[in-house]
Amino acid sequence: MTILDILHYPDPRLRNKASEVQQIDDDLSQLLDDMLETMYAAPGIGLAAVQVNVAQRIVVIDVSEEKDQPLCLINPRILELNGVEEMDEGCLSVPGIYETVKRADNIRFSALDRHGQAFEMAADGLLAVCVQHEIDHLDGKLFVDYLSGLKRRRIRKKLQKELRSSAA
Ligand code: NI
Repeated sequence: MTILDILHYPDPRLRNKASEVQQIDDDLSQLLDDMLETMYAAPGIGLAAVQVNVAQRIVVIDVSEEKDQPLCLINPRILELNGVEEMDEGCLSVPGIYETVKRADNIRFSALDRHGQAFEMAADGLLAVCVQHEIDHLDGKLFVDYLSGLKRRRIRKKLQKELRSSAA
């Protein structure tokens, strides 16, 4: 397995809109394993393919305490959004930044699993937030887009400065 490079905001490639996966094959299986490895190593609780510069509708998630319940979502789709909740969010593409975002607290979604099997699932709390956050990535959207323009500019400046100093 390979640890993949994660793109950092404001990299324009994070704005790519991902296309539907057409084929469940060994390459996809390999990518899922690499994405899980990359997410666990980071460490994070979710990773979308767009974040590793693959513009396909693929997400991996594990919100379990023991990090032993990987969830692979291929072509995920939100079916229902209910309720509102505010939670502090972070993102592997926006390192070191945590801000409160308002989202639905109760959702239903569908996806294909890693074998191409379609399934539906209900989620609340952290998993619900995580699924919404990751599906946003597939549409080129980041959690900082929910913040005020002022906050977003501040975050962009901070990360660009960090990028410059790590390149130097
Ligand atoms: Ni993220």
